[in-house]
Amino acid sequence: MKNITILGSTGSIGTNALKVIKEKKDKFKVIGISGYSNFDLLKKQIEEFQPKYICIGSKSAAEELKILYPEKIIYFGDEGLKNMGALDEADIVLTAISGSIGIEATVEAIKKEKRIALANKETMVAAGEYINKLLKKYPKAEVIPVDSEHSALFQSMQGSGKNEVKTLIITASGGTFRGKTLEYLKNVTVEEALKHPNWSMGKKITIDSSTLVNKGLEVIEAHMLFNIDYDNIEVLVHPQSIVHSMVEFVDSSIIAQIGVPDMKLPIQYAFTYPDREASTALEKLNLKKLKELTFDEINSDVFKGVQLAFKAGRIGKSMPCVFNSANEVAVELFLKGKIKFLDIYEIIESAMAQHELKAIETLEIIKNIDKETRKWVYENYGRD
Ligand SMILES: NC(=O)c1ccc[n+]([C@@H]2O[C@H](COP(=O)([O-])OP(=O)(O)OC[C@H]3O[C@@H](n4cnc5c(N)ncnc54)[C@H](OP(=O)(O)O)[C@@H]3O)[C@@H](O)[C@H]2O)c1
Repeated sequence: MKNITILGSTGSIGTNALKVIKEKKDKFKVIGISGYSNFDLLKKQIEEFQPKYICIGSKSAAEELKILYPEKIIYFGDEGLKNMGALDEADIVLTAISGSIGIEATVEAIKKEKRIALANKETMVAAGEYINKLLKKYPKAEVIPVDSEHSALFQSMQGSGKNEVKTLIITASGGTFRGKTLEYLKNVTVEEALKHPNWSMGKKITIDSSTLVNKGLEVIEAHMLFNIDYDNIEVLVHPQSIVHSMVEFVDSSIIAQIGVPDMKLPIQYAFTYPDREASTALEKLNLKKLKELTFDEINSDVFKGVQLAFKAGRIGKSMPCVFNSANEVAVELFLKGKIKFLDIYEIIESAMAQHELKAIETLEIIKNIDKETRKWVYENYGRD
């Protein structure tokens, strides 16, 4: 029996993880869950899964939960999340919070040498260099990717030596606006940007998919997770979202992981790795129904998310953190109707241009850069 903590249980990844666990109650036990604002869903999850530890966004909501569930240990806010990452009883911590707020809890889980099932890609982007140093210091901690592309890369690399890997080929659905022109994108609405063709996900990642910043974040995440040079990472548009990513090896052989677009598989694999297990929660891919699998170049003149990420990644040090923080605020402003879709790129570009590069040596430095970048974006683009 593996004890699991889910940070972000009320989100898209979190609810999928609970579906995985529900089908395998003999193997997995939920010991901790965290939500932020969705009180009702968190309550439902507490009643169904009976975790011992719970975390919610505000103190007042935590007090309400304490009255309802006096026998439970209830935390709240950022400090609460850190406690959740550090629970001694946990074997696996699934980080499924959206945004860089997930970093500190992940750091705590590494210090406790847990398995981290990492969905929160922003952690590896903003703090990848720091996390990698920490993983060397705490060698029993392990990060197993949950992001479908990185899970696919990880699965494709099983049994191979690192120096046999030539190129990581990350696939992209192309997002909501695949094939559209700059002219078209000028006036797209929030509602349009939130309609993803293949995946059902949280709002932030859905907007990131439509700008292809999500793919950019994944490029940096792949570099940080697998220690592969940016020159050896490629992104291809694959609208069918069946090939979740591929690895090209030095002998030109390409190994891909393919399956239905459903996050339950990478979530379960991160829980069961190195084993694979059957589950009724997992849908089988019907190969006979596949009409075509296509792969194309990204149109970087229109969708700048990937090229900006390569630039930030190659500069390194604090730049990926700036790329991520500027994007987080830009997406928030877009969702609030304060900026237009294409302003997201302008905000990332100008935040990167004004930034003075720093080495990422401590968590404090990362937190400060994140704070400064957010402030700069709000001041320059967020005023009414
Ligand atoms: N969804 C996918 O298919 C997918 C695929 C690959 C990777 N990912 C990555 O997985 C992560 C989660 O994505 P998602 O789509 O599941 O996001 P989501 O549906 O928006 O869920 C986010 C979760 O984080 C919680 N949360 C939000 N703000 C918080 C804060 N300030 N403090 C603490 N908790 C907070 C939310 O709580 P409330 O809802 O209660 O407010 C919710 O539980 C992201 O990093 C994303 O890039 C997602």
